[in-house]
Amino acid sequence: MDALKKAALEARERAHAPFSHFLVGAAIEDANGRIYGGCNVENSSYGLTMCAERTAIFRAVAEGSKRFKRIAVVVDTEKLTPPCGACRQVLWDLCGDMEVILFNLKDETESFRLSDLLPRAFDATYLD
Ligand code: THU
Repeated sequence: MDALKKAALEARERAHAPFSHFLVGAAIEDANGRIYGGCNVENSSYGLTMCAERTAIFRAVAEGSKRFKRIAVVVDTEKLTPPCGACRQVLWDLCGDMEVILFNLKDETESFRLSDLLPRAFDATYLD
């Protein structure tokens, strides 16, 4: 298993999901090979919950990373869990058409381009 997947699994161990019990781990790799993990962090005011993918990308940006290669997302589900719509939009804005790797605890894996998960995405080019 590669370092990106390992980081996603480690991040999942830190998921704070007392309401859904749905533990999600993510890890994003920047253009320099640096890896940042993220987990979902739930809130008793449910709408304030932060997904694992956004935790990972916001953490990377806060640490100074600007360009990204790929993100891995791990959940203990048979049907591999993709990023939610909000995370797809945030990833598109900050990362562009990156590779999105989904896997589960059996290491069943599927890879996508973000442009396939979020076709005809809105972004800053429309604001010109
Ligand atoms: N969740 C993520 O962290 N990432 C996803 O891709 C899907 C959903 C979280 C949010 C919430 O804590 C729990 O999973 C159930 O929706």
